[in-house]
Amino acid sequence: MPWDPEQYARFESWRRRPAHDLVAALPSLTPRTVVDLGCGAGQLARRLAERWPEAEVLGVDNSPAMLERARTTPSRVRWLQADLGVWRPDRPVDLLISNAALQWLDGHERLLPELLRALAPGGVLAVQMPRNFDAPSHRLLYETAADGPWAERLAPVLRTAPVHAPDVYYDWLAPLTRRLDLWETEYLQVLEGDDPVLEWTRGTTLLPVLDTLAGAELDAFLAAYRARLNAAYPRRPDGRTLFPFKRLFLVARV
Ligand SMILES: C[S@@+](CC[C@H](N)C(=O)[O-])C[C@H]1O[C@@H](n2cnc3c(N)ncnc32)[C@H](O)[C@@H]1O
Repeated sequence: MPWDPEQYARFESWRRRPAHDLVAALPSLTPRTVVDLGCGAGQLARRLAERWPEAEVLGVDNSPAMLERARTTPSRVRWLQADLGVWRPDRPVDLLISNAALQWLDGHERLLPELLRALAPGGVLAVQMPRNFDAPSHRLLYETAADGPWAERLAPVLRTAPVHAPDVYYDWLAPLTRRLDLWETEYLQVLEGDDPVLEWTRGTTLLPVLDTLAGAELDAFLAAYRARLNAAYPRRPDGRTLFPFKRLFLVARV
């Protein structure tokens, strides 16, 4: 997937906030090893390296562009390019953390227990994932994808429900953990500028479309999607656009 660190960073403060909320919910711990799964441009991993100066911190991501961006800021974090579908730590880890990344992977019923098994005794798995796949931003994307000459090509690349309900994760993970904390937060994101929801999705959810369509066909797709979004997310009288966004949080201790 061709990640664009520049586009992703356009809504930096809104994207950063759930990572702060996840870190704030960690139980008391002094980890010797920390791994940030799907570390992107590395802000969270660097922050954790500052918080625990004695810990070994590793950031793992499969996007060369994101890792290249991560490496531009000096830090003592080690970066690794690897696919989280298959990569697992080679020794037990005290803190495995992942902000807004695991929704890109399938098979959570297998993936999350495997991550728990990669923890040292007393270790923590902390995960935040968007769970807004039934929001207008996503429903209208699927609708636009199904309604055009691109339908057959887009159907296999758009994933409609990659994140499950909190109780589903409870049933999978509670038997494997000493303590399991699951909750959702809906952020009322206040965005500025033209077509802000389209610009938001360009950095993430639209990537499979941007990777599949090109030229006039991509322009036609974006025009159709933009028109739907503008009707669903009208500008307020103050010129801003409200974009509610629901996220699932999970903090598990073994
Ligand atoms: C939305 S970004 C979040 C980045 C970072 N965690 C943050 O909070 O800014 C999702 C990241 O997950 C990475 N990612 C997606 N699928 C992956 C996979 N299978 N293996 C490794 N990284 C993956 C992407 O490359 C991207 O950097």
